[in-house]
Amino acid sequence: MSSDKKAILEGPNKLKGAFEKELSLASLSVHADDYINNHQAVAPPMHVSTTFRYSDDPDKLVAWENLNPNAPYDSHVYSRDSAPNTTRFEAVLSSVIGAPCVTYASGLAAFHAMIVFLNPRRVAIGDGYHGCHGVLKIMSKLNGLEQLELEDEADLAKLRPGDVIHVETPLNPTGEARDLERYRRIADEKGCYLTVDATFAPPPLMDPFRFGVDVVMHSATKYFGGHSDMLSGVLAVRPDRAWGEGEGEGGKPAEGGWIHELKEERLHLGGVMGNMEGWLGVRSLRTLELRVRRQSESAQALVDFFAAEKSKGGDGLVADLVFKIQHASQQAEARDANSWLRRQMPNGFGPVFSIWLKTEEHARRLPSKLHLFHHATSLGGVESLIEWRAMTDPKIDRRLLRVSIGVEGWEDLRDDLLQGLQALKEELGN
Ligand SMILES: Cc1ncc(COP(=O)(O)O)c(C=O)c1O
Repeated sequence: MSSDKKAILEGPNKLKGAFEKELSLASLSVHADDYINNHQAVAPPMHVSTTFRYSDDPDKLVAWENLNPNAPYDSHVYSRDSAPNTTRFEAVLSSVIGAPCVTYASGLAAFHAMIVFLNPRRVAIGDGYHGCHGVLKIMSKLNGLEQLELEDEADLAKLRPGDVIHVETPLNPTGEARDLERYRRIADEKGCYLTVDATFAPPPLMDPFRFGVDVVMHSATKYFGGHSDMLSGVLAVRPDRAWGEGEGEGGKPAEGGWIHELKEERLHLGGVMGNMEGWLGVRSLRTLELRVRRQSESAQALVDFFAAEKSKGGDGLVADLVFKIQHASQQAEARDANSWLRRQMPNGFGPVFSIWLKTEEHARRLPSKLHLFHHATSLGGVESLIEWRAMTDPKIDRRLLRVSIGVEGWEDLRDDLLQGLQALKEELGN
């Protein structure tokens, strides 16, 4: 085997080979792309080039192949195919998700690419982010794809082999989880693919591949980006479906696997993320574990506090104004150590939850009374956000506020919410 070939095969595995154990998520987030780095700079450079010089040696010219012997993992042709910063972002993502990944310009671009690739005649989809339903509506217009209801037995009976069961868990906007083991059983019975939108529970909160999911998608705009400053989407492919058999050209993984085909289709559809976003993404992933654990723990402390206050009843502030709180931790299965929910989310129930206030008017007015929450859509950033969800979701109950917890001190967030409720009570009465 040539040294070039050997280097390509060893690259991503180099770090693994140096230790006789699995490295932690925190270590992988910082070092999984070290094998790509061919410069002395510790921080990654940002490359804005859309195109890359071919070899000066005419005998080395190979179509769509541009191997730089000094940087075998950082060799590119044109940035609609691959580029340095997004390649590094994909390398770290693949390592922390534990499955090969392809990135896209946004979460919805990733969802669209997944449906185009799997090309089902029917998709069973439940509640969750309305934008994914919007993509399916466009696909229905193009090719007659049928949208089925995930929780409807009659609809599930219509599924045929090659169709898709798409599950979002935890759900937007409530933060409640859905049972992936159950949907895997249904998918197996029907010969369907199981795809999961895991945006609300990035590593280390959930690993959908433990439950046999075929494709995991994320809006990387949320926790992978983590700073409310980049749009991106990710598809991660179940490892046994990712690559073709054997070894391909130049020692690279063989063609034929899903990753290769997804990249081919991305090259033609053009939904790649930008260089700047790739660079920001790598910067963000370095702190993924720190951020997500902290955000999930703080959300849990807040949900516990408000649930306890509400259950006290009487004429307390929270009992008076809060109608209900939704979060995976509030589902009955969260109290059973042997439940699917505890198996699925062993490291916390996620940083997003919903609070319903007693009237629409209360929900509309609370965000502007808060000092540590921005009233804005989206989630997953270091800054806490609250959204009167009626602002962007026309079908949602108008009493619902979605809360995304950032990295501030949770007691400060609690006090801010309490003072906001107090101000609301003084303004609107009970
Ligand atoms: C669960 C979920 N999936 C997908 C998306 C779409 O992601 P993007 O905005 O990156 O396209 C969102 C956005 O809010 C989301 O919450």
